[in-house]
Amino acid sequence: MSMPLTVVIFGATGDLAKKKLFPALYQLCLHKHLPRSLDIVGYGRSDVNLPEFINKQCAGIKEDPQYAKHLFTSRIRFHAGGYDEDESYARLAASICEYEATQPAANGIGNRLYFLSVPPSVFGAVVDAVSKHGRAPAGGFTRLMIEKPFGRDSGTFAELNQLTSSCFRESQLFRLDHYLGKEVILNIPTLRWANQIFEPVWSRQYIESVQLTFKEDLGTAGRGGYFDSVGIIRDIIQNHLLQAFMWLAMEPPTAMSAAEIVKAKVSLLRSVSTLYLGDGDGGGGFGSVFLGQYSRHGDEPGYLDDKTVPAGSTCPTFAACVLEVNTARWRGVPFLFTAGKGMDERVCELRVRFKPQPHNAMMGIVGHQNELVMRIQPDEALYIISVAKEPGITAEQVRKPVVMDMSYAQQFTGAYLGDAYERMFLNCARGDQSLFVSEAELFEAWRIFTPLLHEIDERRPQPVRHPFGLYPRGYHEWVAARGVTIR
Ligand code: NDP
Ligand code: BG6
Repeated sequence: MSMPLTVVIFGATGDLAKKKLFPALYQLCLHKHLPRSLDIVGYGRSDVNLPEFINKQCAGIKEDPQYAKHLFTSRIRFHAGGYDEDESYARLAASICEYEATQPAANGIGNRLYFLSVPPSVFGAVVDAVSKHGRAPAGGFTRLMIEKPFGRDSGTFAELNQLTSSCFRESQLFRLDHYLGKEVILNIPTLRWANQIFEPVWSRQYIESVQLTFKEDLGTAGRGGYFDSVGIIRDIIQNHLLQAFMWLAMEPPTAMSAAEIVKAKVSLLRSVSTLYLGDGDGGGGFGSVFLGQYSRHGDEPGYLDDKTVPAGSTCPTFAACVLEVNTARWRGVPFLFTAGKGMDERVCELRVRFKPQPHNAMMGIVGHQNELVMRIQPDEALYIISVAKEPGITAEQVRKPVVMDMSYAQQFTGAYLGDAYERMFLNCARGDQSLFVSEAELFEAWRIFTPLLHEIDERRPQPVRHPFGLYPRGYHEWVAARGVTIR
C-alpha cells in the first residue's frame, strides 16, 4: 500500500480513541501494515496542547523496541473545530490536500479514512460534512468507519442509514462491530467448515442448546450516562453476541466473500422469530427475556450508585433471551444469549451442548453431556468437555469428565494475536468488508429486537437487583424453563 493515507479520528479526545484507536494504529505501523506516508489527524471541538494530548491519548501504547513510540506520535496532528462547522471541515480538507501534495510519488492523490468515534447525535453532521468537503481526489479512496450503536431501533437505524447512504456508497461504509475482529470468532468458519467432524453434527439432531455468554466484572465505570440510554441488550446482545450467533448458526456461504457472507447472515436472521416482552413471572423473568441490574456488594458500587445514572433507573445491566431459529437445521434448539455487567468475571464464551445418545448410559456416567466451548476472552481457547477412562488397572473402569483443550497460547506459542481494532483498521484500509456489518443484516437484527426494546422502554419492567458479582435470583430457573441446562 504505497499511496499516502490520512486517518481522521473524529472524537479523538475520547475514551475509545485512547483505549483502542491510537494503540491499534501504533501496532499497525510497528508491523508495517500501513503506508509510510501516513497522516493521523485527531479532530475535536476544542483546541488542545498537542504534546499533552498525545501524552494522554497515547498513554496506552505498549512501546516495542522495534519502533519508537515518538516516531509514531510524530505523525499525529490535531484539528480543532465544531462537528457542524462547515468552515472547519474545509480547513481540514485543505490541510489534507497540502499533506498529500508533499508526499513522494503521490501526484497529489491520497486515500482517506474517517473514523467516527463520536456520540451518535453528531454522526449526521460529520457524515454530511465529510461528503461535502472531505472526499479524496479521483484515484484515492474515501472510507468511513462507523462505530456502534447503529441507531437504537429499526426506525432510528433506517434514518441513520438513509443519511449515510445518501452521501456514500455501501462499499465506502465500514460499520464496525469489533467482536467480528476477535480471533476466536474469526475462527468459527474454520472450525465448522475446514474440519470434517463438526458440520455433520451441527444441527438439532445432535445439539441440545447453544449458549452465548458475555460477562464483565466491571460496572459502567463512568459511562453510566451513555449506558442508561442504551441498556445491555443494545450494548452487547443485539450486536456483539448476535454477530457471534450468526457465524455459529448460518448455513455455509457459497464463497467466503463479503457479499456471500452477508447473504448467508441475512438468510439466517430472517428465520429468527421477533422478540416480545411477554408476561412477567413476578421476578426478572418475562416470556422472552430475563432482566437484572447489579447493586452494591461490599466495596463494589451498584449501578444506581453511579452519579451519572438517573435515580431509580430500571435500565437492565443484565439480560438473557432465547432466540428461536425456524430452519430445518435449528428448529427447537434454544440459543440462549446472556450478558451482564457487574458480574463475577470478565469472560465471553460460546458453548454448544450436545444431546445425550442412548448408548451413553452403559458407560455408567450419568447426566454427562459433551460441550464444545469457544472462549473468546480472556485466554482464547477451544475445548471439548468429554469423558475419559481414568488410567489404572482396577477391574472396574472409572470414567470422569475431562477437557480436551486447545489454548491459543499453547497451540500458537509466540503468535501475535493483536487487538480486534487493528484488524478492523487494516481491513478497512484494504477495502475488505467481510468483517463489517451490512445494512441488510442491521435491518433484520433490529427487526428481531425492536418490539422487545420498545416494550422495555415504555413499560419499564423492574429488573431483579442482584449483588455485584452474583447472578440475579431466578435466572437459572428461567433458563431451565426454556430447555437450557447450564453447566
Ligand atoms: P466519548 O463519550 O468519550 O466521546 C468521544 C468524543 O466525542 C469526546 O471526546 C468529545 O470530543 C466528543 N463528544 C462527546 N460528547 C459529545 C456531544 N454531546 N456532542 C458532540 N461531541 C461530543 O465516547 P467514546 O470515545 O467512549 O466512544 C466513541 C464512540 O464509540 C461512541 O459512538 C460509542 O458509542 C462507541 N463505542 C465506544 C466504546 C468504548 O469502549 N468507549 C466501545 C464501543 C463503541 P471533543 O469534545 O473533543 O469534540
Ligand atoms: C463495547 C460496549 O461495545 O464493548 C462496552 O459498549 C463493553 O460496554 C465493550 O465493555 C466490551 O468490549 P471488549 O472487547 O472489552 O470485550
